Amino acid sequence: MRAMVVRRYGPPDVFELQQAPDLQPKPGEVLIRAKAIGVNFADLMQRMGIYPGGPKPPFVPGIEIAGVVERVGEGMRAGDSDVCRPGDAVVAMPDFGAYAEWVAVPAQQVYRLPPGMPFEDGAAIAVNYLTAYCAMFTTGRLHPGDRILIHGAAGGVGTAAVQLARGLGLEIFGTAGPSKQDYLRKIGVQHPIDYEKSDFVDVIRKYAPGGVELAMDPIGGKSWARSYACLAPAGKLAVYGFSAAAGDSGARSIRRGLQAMLQSPRFHPFKLMEKGAAVIGVNLGQARARGSHLRDELGEIFRLYGEGKIRPVIGKTFPLDRAAAAHQFLQDRKNTGKVILTTR
Ligand SMILES: NC(=O)c1ccc[n+]([C@@H]2O[C@H](COP(=O)([O-])OP(=O)(O)OC[C@H]3O[C@@H](n4cnc5c(N)ncnc54)[C@H](OP(=O)(O)O)[C@@H]3O)[C@@H](O)[C@H]2O)c1
Repeated sequence: MRAMVVRRYGPPDVFELQQAPDLQPKPGEVLIRAKAIGVNFADLMQRMGIYPGGPKPPFVPGIEIAGVVERVGEGMRAGDSDVCRPGDAVVAMPDFGAYAEWVAVPAQQVYRLPPGMPFEDGAAIAVNYLTAYCAMFTTGRLHPGDRILIHGAAGGVGTAAVQLARGLGLEIFGTAGPSKQDYLRKIGVQHPIDYEKSDFVDVIRKYAPGGVELAMDPIGGKSWARSYACLAPAGKLAVYGFSAAAGDSGARSIRRGLQAMLQSPRFHPFKLMEKGAAVIGVNLGQARARGSHLRDELGEIFRLYGEGKIRPVIGKTFPLDRAAAAHQFLQDRKNTGKVILTTR
């Protein structure tokens, strides 16, 4: 089978197309023939070698794949679980290894796609919408009319968060680069913020003087303190990424990583208590360990999809063997919505 291998940590050109041995599912695993593969920012960070606990080269990155179940591992009978029948269309979230034609994934990380959902939509929904859903609903507990600040609102998770926020009737503030402001308006961000022109703290103070109920911040470093400053009393800051450590070059920089760490705030319990505020860490990897909860949440997201209340935006699709170009595209901040790799 063909697989895209990261030979060493570094910029996108470290990818190499390799012929890997065919996979056999281990006991408890499901072997999936890939159709569409989600490209996530975590993949970029793994490739750069700055993802905490990430795999060591050489490795095949990728944490999101939609495709067809080929076989189930020994110890499981076909039909044991509603997601493990050969021929089923599924989406799966492996720990890594998804940039390949075949992927073997533990059964509890495999979810059946609703009938008729295109594989590309499946691979664009799972990670992005689950991350946004966990931040906004499972832990964020937002209510209609609340205000939300979404950083990276034009990206994969950002677009998902905007759609979910619209569905609940939230007032949305969203940041993105200058070329994405029209896109933000189009997807329903009432207060688009071009971070090159405006300071988001000033915008929030002007249009939401009481603050926002939830700030979603995957940037980290000094941005976390500034997002916290935007919170309303009893507001929440959801932290779920650290793109401040990534920089623009695509190569790892210890200095940049350290600087972002040093600029990250410390939240004193008394201060949190005084404001009634919460700082929430969102980690899909941890949530995956809760198994059935995540299955319920994805079920709810699929229900919203079925009702036409959410629709993933696939900004660009690349063939699997052009994974390096897909990474460069994200690294250059050119994407709106999700980037997908296909095996066809
Ligand atoms: N904790 C979790 O479980 C979890 C799960 C999924 C995603 N995440 C995090 O959520 C964030 C969004 O993930 P995503 O997969 O949806 O990616 P994405 O937002 O589509 O990522 C690409 C966009 O990020 C922005 N960006 C910010 N800093 C950047 C940098 N240093 N280099 C390149 N782009 C940068 C750019 O948009 P603008 O400049 O226009 O904003 C770029 O277009 C990431 O930080 C990711 O690690 C966390």
